[in-house]
Amino acid sequence: MLIDTHAHLSDGAFDDIRGEVIEKARQCSVAKIITSGSDYKSSLEAFSLAQKYEDIYCSIGIYPESILELNDEVESKLYKLGQDKKVVAIGEIGLQYTEGAPDRELQKCGFIRQIKLAFNLNKPIVIHCRDAYGDLIDLLKKNREYFSGGTLHCYGGSYEIAMEAIKLGYYISVGGVSTFKNAQNIKEVLKKLPLERFVLETDCPYLTPHPFRGKLNMPSYIPTIAENLAELKGVTVEEVAKQSTINARRLFNI
Ligand code: NI
Repeated sequence: MLIDTHAHLSDGAFDDIRGEVIEKARQCSVAKIITSGSDYKSSLEAFSLAQKYEDIYCSIGIYPESILELNDEVESKLYKLGQDKKVVAIGEIGLQYTEGAPDRELQKCGFIRQIKLAFNLNKPIVIHCRDAYGDLIDLLKKNREYFSGGTLHCYGGSYEIAMEAIKLGYYISVGGVSTFKNAQNIKEVLKKLPLERFVLETDCPYLTPHPFRGKLNMPSYIPTIAENLAELKGVTVEEVAKQSTINARRLFNI
């Protein structure tokens, strides 16, 4: 049994094939899927998918690019939704320092607000981070008292940063990028990290793993990501499946 800890099943790319995609995941031993929101609208959509399907859970939150949406009203709506048992995390939330992204101070404020929200709900966070790993670790350290567990989703940073995050209690989420032929850096990082701290994700419909690049990504590609990680770690795919599932179940309480 495998778990896709981060997917975007409410994405329009799945509109005509959502049922088939979910069924195909089941056939490929992907027994549970956590579908994620990234703004309020997609969080509501993720929530309703989780209500509709027994083996689908959701995470809700406002990610950096939409952080201007986050106000008291949205926060209290997220808090209300977050009390439902199918909401297993707050996310994706975080920091993104790419060009054209919203003001960094505003992003940090919004991120901290949602870290506290997750803490109050006693649910882990799913962290989105791009070009901001230094500030991310700083911020996580400074807000340690609000720690409620979480993952660094689609991890793309260094070994040192990953170990800092692990020491703080976070998990490293491995997705399609780790299978790309030109992703030598992240492959070297993953080789050195402990199997006990990995969870798997597709981030579908984005970041389709090799050798399926160019096709639509979906949760049924989790076995491909597991096989690749097994190869990197020099262990069997069964070991990766077993340990990553234990990790995901423990973290998300599913
Ligand atoms: Ni995502």
